[in-house]
Amino acid sequence: MNELNTEARLHDLEKRNELAMQGGGINRLSKHKQGGRLTARERLDVLLDPGSFVEMDRFVTHRCVNFGLHDQRVPGDGVVTGYGRVNGKLVYVYSQDFTVIGGSMSRTQANKICKVMDLAAKSGAPIIGLNDSGGARIQEGVESLGGYADIFTRNVMNSGVVPQITGIMGPCAGGAVYSPSITDFVFMVKNSSYMFVTGPDVIKTVTHEEVTKEQLGGADTHSQKSGVAHFCCNEDKHLLLLIRELLGFLPSNNLDDPPVLPTTDRPDRLCESLNKLIPDNPKKPYDMSTVITEVVDEHYFLEVHKHWAQNIIVGFARLNGRPIGVVANQPQVLAGCLNIEASRKAARFLRFCDSFNVPIVSFVDVPGFLPGTDQEWSGIITHGAKLLYAYAEATVPKLTVITRKAYGGAYIVMGSKLLRSDVNLAYPTAEIAVMGAEGAVNIIFREEIAKSKDPAAERTRLTKEYEAKFSNPYISAELGYTDEVIEPALTRKRLIDGIEMLKNKRETNPPKKHGNIPL
Ligand code: HXC
Repeated sequence: MNELNTEARLHDLEKRNELAMQGGGINRLSKHKQGGRLTARERLDVLLDPGSFVEMDRFVTHRCVNFGLHDQRVPGDGVVTGYGRVNGKLVYVYSQDFTVIGGSMSRTQANKICKVMDLAAKSGAPIIGLNDSGGARIQEGVESLGGYADIFTRNVMNSGVVPQITGIMGPCAGGAVYSPSITDFVFMVKNSSYMFVTGPDVIKTVTHEEVTKEQLGGADTHSQKSGVAHFCCNEDKHLLLLIRELLGFLPSNNLDDPPVLPTTDRPDRLCESLNKLIPDNPKKPYDMSTVITEVVDEHYFLEVHKHWAQNIIVGFARLNGRPIGVVANQPQVLAGCLNIEASRKAARFLRFCDSFNVPIVSFVDVPGFLPGTDQEWSGIITHGAKLLYAYAEATVPKLTVITRKAYGGAYIVMGSKLLRSDVNLAYPTAEIAVMGAEGAVNIIFREEIAKSKDPAAERTRLTKEYEAKFSNPYISAELGYTDEVIEPALTRKRLIDGIEMLKNKRETNPPKKHGNIPL
């Protein structure tokens, strides 16, 4: 009798599991998969090491009876939650299922997500959310807003404690976009994922503006215009594999060190090509990403925010197996000037690295902050100060290489010794000065030039004189602001020497509730 009972119970469990696997039903699932999108469960299969996923709360259902919802109770309530492994390391996950009431956020869905967020914080492991949701479940009203608020609170509490990563996998509207924007990295898929606070229909009603959802909040828009998305991917699978790659650079939590990987790239490898990279003409651009890829292990650089604020480059790489965060001016775009977007991009990246013990390596070629009314009226003072704040506040090892221009405030900001940086190197082509020679001469010799019989010739003569005196790295080296002027070929070796030397660096900021970064 008992045996039969057990069998019946096992059969019942199997049926319940099958029902849960079907999400919003076979028809909705097959419609969802049109266009190459994966289902919520398939996404977890790609993201996690094979066979490592353990699901929690599979049978949770919502409790709402409004507007016919009592007939739409699906086990799991539109989100698959649990834990698994990425390259053997523990991660917590949630994956929203758009086929169940549009993946919308119910009170019970929020409870499921909060449960794994709490476990992630307690066990010190990253949390990865795969969002595919129409926002707050409208039928539940304010209760679903309470659910969102609980998630947002946990996002904030977990910020800087465990890495938080979001994949935007479908149309995400309303509340579905705020949690991602608090997380550390947002990934989007071209032509199938969207983020907006209010959709095109509402916009048309309120402002009479006509805009497609692609233009308003597609992957291109957010990875090129707004900077809301850090990575823009071609399809679901690409996105999920890229999250795995990113995790390879990160520690599990703020008390861990980033994972060191063995490398066959010799630490003393010379970078001969760098000896010829910097053009003789200081106005001529060159590609700073060549410097980065030449120097780092196996020439591998994972660029973050590749398509936004391209006058600054940020991303992850390794030196002698140790993960580093790279921040570099790009002379090919806006001559490498710092503007509002570049300052915001680099400041946020720096703060991530500092939160998670990733040393910062900066490559500097910066003529200054971008001048103009547009920048001033949009608050370059406040936004530029974010970058200054982030560099000065960071206590991780900070190493800086000045390749060419390092002028004025931008010199101070970009990881200079003056902001507690640990190692400052300069190429012989470096120009570390208060400003460019031409600008300086126009100001300090204005009268002499005006009085001269041949103002143009006089300006040229004085500019050359100024260049000879100040446009070099040696004045800063004499002051100890530059530790060493190096042959560019030695860049990799010297940076690795520095990283190894600083391996046990300990520096703390004064105790305080928190600083007041100029937001
Ligand atoms: C309940 C929802 C829903 C929602 C979608 N659905 N969003 N149900 N609450 N928020 C349901 C739809 O009714 C539909 O059910 C199914 O999910 C699929 O949706 P479709 O509209 O058919 O899909 P699609 O054409 O792809 O459009 C996706 C969408 C659209 C762009 C996301 O559904 C949409 O605009 N939804 C509402 C978005 C929104 O305004 N959300 C804000 C909520 S308020 P059936 O049964 O017909 O298949 C909010 C405030 C939180 O989030 C603020 C916190 C700070």
